[in-house]
Amino acid sequence: LMPQDLVGETVLVTAGPTREEIDPVRFVSNYSSGKMGYALARAARLRGARVLLVSGPSALTAPWGVERICVVSAEEMRNAVLDRWGEVSIAIKAAAVADYRPARRSERKVKKADRESLSLELEKNPDILAELGLRKGDRFLVGFAAETCDLLENARKKMRAKNLDLMVANDVTQERAGFDVDTNIVRLLQPDGTEEALPEMTKDEVARHILDRIQSLRKGT
Ligand code: C5P
Repeated sequence: LMPQDLVGETVLVTAGPTREEIDPVRFVSNYSSGKMGYALARAARLRGARVLLVSGPSALTAPWGVERICVVSAEEMRNAVLDRWGEVSIAIKAAAVADYRPARRSERKVKKADRESLSLELEKNPDILAELGLRKGDRFLVGFAAETCDLLENARKKMRAKNLDLMVANDVTQERAGFDVDTNIVRLLQPDGTEEALPEMTKDEVARHILDRIQSLRKGT
């Protein structure tokens, strides 16, 4: 039986990739499937939380009992999250937000011309998690770091810069971890320097471990 230890909490989870449109038929995005975020949303609901799942484009169906808010771009994800921020007590940002978007979106399909190359200018997207870190209040804030090198150093830096209470670091170069697969291999990093390396497990199991850790840190045990 699931512990009902999240009754009364509103958990916001972001999941999936974002898409940044170039023109009506093309976009810039990444390989995120949404599996980790959806697993977190499902697990939080099973433990009694009210769950808001802000999701970029994903083929997954919304877990039972979860309120899903569908978005496409990082800008839309930011607006959806800030819109609901007042209701939230725990926020888990599992989305793979595109760091950059095309500086201009063409209203019409970009045509193939005689030229041999075409360049696309990109501009930085807002860092949603960093903004949430500034408006944290008494909420509990969890981030993810998908890295291909210097995993721990980068993840620790981001945890500090974004004012997080917990960072989930995953090395996406490992075959059974990260984007699209059903398993993950992560480390849980805390601001006090404590670090736990979890073995390979399903994303549902990783979700349960993350919620357990959130609860023990919130209770100070
Ligand atoms: O992209 P980065 O590695 O900095 O992502 C770390 C964390 O920040 C993730 O939890 C991700 O969801 C979040 N993020 C965000 N907005 C961005 C970029 C990342 O919320 N524009």
